[in-house]
Amino acid sequence: MSIDSNLAMSATASGGRVLSGMRPTGRLHLGNYHGALRNWVQLQYRYECFFFIADWHMLTTGYEDTARLPEFVREVLIDWLAAGLNPGVATLFIQSHVPEHAELHLLLSMITPLGWLERVPSYKDQQEQLKEKDLATYGFLGYPLLQSADILVYRAAHVPVGEDQVAHVELTREAARRFNHVFGREPDFEEKAERAVKSLGGRNTTLYRQLRRRFQETGEREARERARALVQSNNRITVADRERLLGYLEGTGVTILPEPQVLLTETPKVPGLDGRKMSKSYGNTIELREEPESVTRKLRAMQTDPARVRRTDPGDPDKCPVFELHKIYSDETTRKWAAEGCRSAGIGCLDCKQPVIDKIVAEVTEMRRRAQEYVENPELLRDIVAEGAEKAREAARETLEEVRRAMHLRAD
Ligand code: TRP
Ligand code: SF4
Repeated sequence: MSIDSNLAMSATASGGRVLSGMRPTGRLHLGNYHGALRNWVQLQYRYECFFFIADWHMLTTGYEDTARLPEFVREVLIDWLAAGLNPGVATLFIQSHVPEHAELHLLLSMITPLGWLERVPSYKDQQEQLKEKDLATYGFLGYPLLQSADILVYRAAHVPVGEDQVAHVELTREAARRFNHVFGREPDFEEKAERAVKSLGGRNTTLYRQLRRRFQETGEREARERARALVQSNNRITVADRERLLGYLEGTGVTILPEPQVLLTETPKVPGLDGRKMSKSYGNTIELREEPESVTRKLRAMQTDPARVRRTDPGDPDKCPVFELHKIYSDETTRKWAAEGCRSAGIGCLDCKQPVIDKIVAEVTEMRRRAQEYVENPELLRDIVAEGAEKAREAARETLEEVRRAMHLRAD
C-alpha cells in the first residue's frame, strides 16, 4: 500500500472533515491556484471535503456592486473544476444556497463579545487599506464570525487556509469554546464543577477561579496553562473532578461545536508580471484559463532582474521574479541551467523564460480543456451546485438541530 493511500485511510478513519471557502472574485489566476486550489485538489482525495463560494462574504466589503456577482460565482466555479476539483468526490456549493450558515451566524452573534471582533487584525487593517469602501458596517465587523459559522456549521476538523486567515480560525475556536461553555453542559455540570473547585482547597480554589476568569474573559493562554497545571498536579481530587475542572476551564461540557484546526497551506510565492505578488488588484496576473498566446506574450514581457539591461549583462536570479516561477515550474536541471546562465550571461532572458512559458502554457491548456464542457453547458454547473447545496444542507441541518436543541429553540 502506498503512503498516499495509507494517509487517505487514516484521514477518513479519523473522520476529519475539511472545509474551506473562497470569495467570488471572478476569474482566478495562478496565484489563487498555487495559493489554495492546488492544495484543495489534493485534499479532496484524503478527506471528506466541503468547498464553497463565499458570496455573502463578498457583500461584507462591497454591497453596492452585486450586478456581476452571478458571473463571478460562475467563473470561480468553472475555475475550480478546471483546476481539478471533482464534484464526485468533494462537495462544492455556494454559501447563500445554505441558509444554515446565516442562522448559526446569528446565534453565535448573541454570545460573541464585540471586543473579539474589533481585535481581529483584518478589521482595522482593511479599514485603513480600503479607504474608498464603506467598511463601517455591521456586516463587515461581523464578517469573521460569519466565517466561524461557515466552519462550525459543518463541524469541520481542518480548515486549509493561508497565513492571512489564521486569526479567523482562531476566533472560530473561541466562538466554539464559548458556545460549548454556555450551552453544552449537562444539567448539573455547573454544580458539580463548582463542588470540584472547592475540593481543590484553600488557596488553590481562589487561584483556579482567578485564572479561569482571566482565561475566559481575555482568552489569555498563559492563564489557561497555569490553571491546567494546577488541576493536573493536584492529587487530592478524583479523576472525574479533574475532568470537570478541565472542562469547566475550557468552557466545554458536552462538545456541540468542535474546535477546528488550521491546516496551514505551504504555498510558493507566486510573482505577478510586474514582480509584485500576483493579485487581481495589481492587474499583473495570468489567469487559469488564459489563452496560450496571451500567456506567452505576457511572460515574454515579464519583469526580470532590473540590473540585467543588456543581453551581455550578468543577472542575479535571486532578484528576478522569473526565477520564482522556475522554482514552481522547473525541475532541478532546468533551474540550475537558468541560474548559471543568468549569472554568466550565458543565456538571454527570453531563453531563460522559455521553459517556464512551455510549462504554464501546458498548464492553462489543460485547464481550458477541462473547463470546456462547463463553458458550453452551463446547466452542468447548476446541477453541481444544486447537488452540493443539498449535501451541504444535510450536514448543516444536523448541526443546527443540535444547536437549537441546546439553546432550547426547538419548536417540536
Ligand atoms: N475569508 C476567506 C477569504 O477571504 C474566505 C472564507 C469565508 C473562508 N469563509 C471561510 C475560508 C471559511 C475558510 C473557511 O479568503
Ligand atoms: Fe531572470 Fe532568467 Fe533573465 Fe536571469 S536570465 S534575469 S533569471 S529571466
